[in-house]
Amino acid sequence: MKADLIVGIQWGDEGKGKIVDRLACEYDMVCRSQGGHNAGHTIWVDGVKYALHLIPSGVLNPKAINVVGNGVVLSPESIIKEMAQFEGLEGRLFISDKAHLNLSYHAMIDQARERLKGDKAIGTTGKGIGPAYADKINRIGHRVGELLNPAKLCSSIMNYFEQNRDIFDILEIKTPNKEELLEELEGYRVKFAPFITDTTQMLWRALDEENKRVLLEGAQGTMLDIDHGTYPYVTSSSTVSAGACTGLGINSKDIGKVTGIVKAYCTRVGNGPFPSEDLGEDGKRLGKQGHEFGTTTGRARRCGWFDAVACRYASRLNGCDELALMKLDVLDGFSEVKICVAYELDGVEIDYLPQNLEDVKPIYKSFKGWSGSAGVRKFEDLPKEAQEYVRVIEEITKTKVGIISTSPEREDTIIL
Ligand code: IMP
Repeated sequence: MKADLIVGIQWGDEGKGKIVDRLACEYDMVCRSQGGHNAGHTIWVDGVKYALHLIPSGVLNPKAINVVGNGVVLSPESIIKEMAQFEGLEGRLFISDKAHLNLSYHAMIDQARERLKGDKAIGTTGKGIGPAYADKINRIGHRVGELLNPAKLCSSIMNYFEQNRDIFDILEIKTPNKEELLEELEGYRVKFAPFITDTTQMLWRALDEENKRVLLEGAQGTMLDIDHGTYPYVTSSSTVSAGACTGLGINSKDIGKVTGIVKAYCTRVGNGPFPSEDLGEDGKRLGKQGHEFGTTTGRARRCGWFDAVACRYASRLNGCDELALMKLDVLDGFSEVKICVAYELDGVEIDYLPQNLEDVKPIYKSFKGWSGSAGVRKFEDLPKEAQEYVRVIEEITKTKVGIISTSPEREDTIIL
């Protein structure tokens, strides 16, 4: 059977974790194809909060198999902490032998580069994502499969430090102690050996079976895509649906339904253009009502109104069959809500994303606000203004809304 795909439409943090977790009980396999522990997926089940970074969100459903694909950059240290939250992961979690390692020195490089950039900093999560992907593209990275031979991997990492000494001197990063490094890598071998495999083959077998259902879980969001996002203020992986193919070793014909996840408003962490950002009281209120603090870094997220221009662009780019509209309840209590329906660039109205997105001004349409959408589970029970808001989003983005979330709880979800 074809795989279904969940993809972030905005700047990440759209609430993908809740949807993947809710849907995971219907799937036999849940796969991550890109990103690393920069991702933070929060899932609430029965009032308990789980924060996942690398392990796919299907982990909370005992029947689902979870795959970390070749396109992911894996921090052994980070995933070990996550794994400690769950029991019986063997046979339920598999990590691609081709995924790249994101080791502690990658985070040091990331943070040092950000410091050197000063006010031009990207505002990364500081988790070493960019440097780990850069090593991969430079063909000097190390793959997860190499953990199975710690002695060889240790020599290779020592060589890497020797060859890059000049850069490390500028960044003030010391060469690791060889014995300590070997010991660390040996520990990883013991820990990860049962989980490392050729996940592409596993996935092909599942896709070739009639009844096996596979879900692909995107991380970050379309506007942070390395090619199609707000470059250079982006992450270093391909966050769009096409990235799921290379990040797992499948082809475009293997993908069935694509669901784009959007918040009913917009947020962004880190620097870079954000046309519908609201720096006034409304933005503050959205942040407060939506608890907009990063799962990974704890940073306050920048907040603003729903950007229908960016959403339409992202929906087309990903081939979305439907949108899942998250956190509609956060708009409860506003007397007026706004949607960015177009941009103004040099006095001209445009309906696309220009290269110089930082120069556009948002053009808004205002709508009467509502109260009482929190916890609603049927579309017809939503306040009529909220229903209207959903219909307007469908019209402007040219994509139907198939799912609406009205609280962090798994069951407070409207399926249309
Ligand atoms: P990096 O991925 O750590 O290199 O950060 C690059 C940009 O992507 C920064 O603006 C981060 O705040 C943003 N970013 C990375 N991962 C996430 C995420 O999971 N959610 C939201 N923003 C993210």
